[in-house]
Amino acid sequence: MQNVAAKIGVSITTVSRVLSGQAEKYRISKRTADAVFKVAAEMGYVPDQVARGLRIRRTNTIGLIIPDISNPFFSTIARYIEINARKYGYSTILSDCQEDTQMEIESIHLLQSRKVDGLILCPIGEDSDHLMAIVNSGLPIVIVDRYFPELACSYVISDNYKGAFEAVSYLIENNHHSIGCIQGRINTSVNINRVRGFRDAYKKSNIPLDESLIVGENFGKKDGYIGAKILLSRKTRPTAIFSASNLISLGAMRAILEEGLTIPDDISMISFDDQPYSDYLVTPMTTVAQQTSEIGQIAFTLLHSQMKSESKPMVESIILPTKLIIRKSVKKLELTV
Ligand code: RIB
Repeated sequence: MQNVAAKIGVSITTVSRVLSGQAEKYRISKRTADAVFKVAAEMGYVPDQVARGLRIRRTNTIGLIIPDISNPFFSTIARYIEINARKYGYSTILSDCQEDTQMEIESIHLLQSRKVDGLILCPIGEDSDHLMAIVNSGLPIVIVDRYFPELACSYVISDNYKGAFEAVSYLIENNHHSIGCIQGRINTSVNINRVRGFRDAYKKSNIPLDESLIVGENFGKKDGYIGAKILLSRKTRPTAIFSASNLISLGAMRAILEEGLTIPDDISMISFDDQPYSDYLVTPMTTVAQQTSEIGQIAFTLLHSQMKSESKPMVESIILPTKLIIRKSVKKLELTV
């Protein structure tokens, strides 16, 4: 670093800040930063982050654990966490635990052993027993999405209840009284609140709910396919489907197609989770959009303030509103007297 600094005529501190990705934070000009990277590359300089971490007892690295990187919901959140972490000079180690709790436990231990400075966790969400230790360990941690009220740590989630309530109320306003609900992973906070919103929309409209209209048990495409097949095979088919997530909706759409039905003429549909493809479907999907980029940004901001805090940080709970994006997948039924 000394040689790089001498060659360019800047301080070692400047070189260190540029090489640790903090040029923007310390308002170091792009011209100087480019010169540092150029000369460092010419000299074959690669900072030894492991040695640096041991010396300063900080690795400038955060851990991020998500249930499924192939799911656009989680990959979008991961992208905005990484973008914001990089802005403040942090590297991100991502671990995809494939919707498997045992892999989540292993990922937590791995990231602890890598001495990450902080952890952002999107839990599988079924149970919190294995999370108590990490939350009480003092490691800065923020939970995203499927949270646990019993854990004394900060979290960033969507208002799943209100999002579902508004979506199902919209279906009822379009005269749908027989609405199938394909739910997700049953004991997760997001699913509990979405199904509660579904139920309360019925209750508010004084329409009796046939419990057999609630099907499904997980967030995957296969679960959506099976759930839709069950709903479509009923003697009296529901006139609409409320799908509790993006992947469930993909599976349900495939089942609807296989049954020779079209959306919305034969069956209306609303999907939780807006997706880049929602607008491009044969029938553009009406969705409940979560603010995924803001969730990622806020999750890192909360973690960063914990990592910078000298004292025990306060627990912050951020609940972001969803947005009902109305497209073409819901048909208004004629009222039958
Ligand atoms: O499949 C993604 C779903 O699971 C999203 O709705 C998100 O909230 C996650 O919990």
